[in-house]
Amino acid sequence: MRRCLLLLGMAAVLCACGQRDVFNHASDATPHQRELERAFAICAGCHDTRADLGHRVGPNLHGVIGRRAGTAPGYAYSEAMRDSGIV
Ligand code: HEC
Repeated sequence: MRRCLLLLGMAAVLCACGQRDVFNHASDATPHQRELERAFAICAGCHDTRADLGHRVGPNLHGVIGRRAGTAPGYAYSEAMRDSGIV
């Protein structure tokens, strides 16, 4: 059991080291920002949020708040996403 926990802990550290700093302000982040970064870690495998980075498996999410879904230039969205009308 203890060995299992140790392995899990090591895996978590390795995963954390492999993550990109998607918000690019880790040192001066507030606790709330750090919480958001943790929550976004599962999304970061497919999405970047910095404008100067391109699309990954999923579209770049820079500026996604307030714009129509399926409209980031240069990303091949599904028809369903393009026609969703979600903002
Ligand atoms: C396994 C890859 C993957 C993961 C993980 C993932 N996404 Fe996505 N996401 C996609 C793909 C692919 C699309 C485009 C889907 C389409 O065109 O139908 C997308 C689309 C989106 C969009 C619409 C963007 C736009 O420009 O209209 C948002 C918002 C989004 N994802 C948010 C998230 C969030 C938040 C998370 C984490 C909770 C997340 N995604 C996790 C692959 C992923």
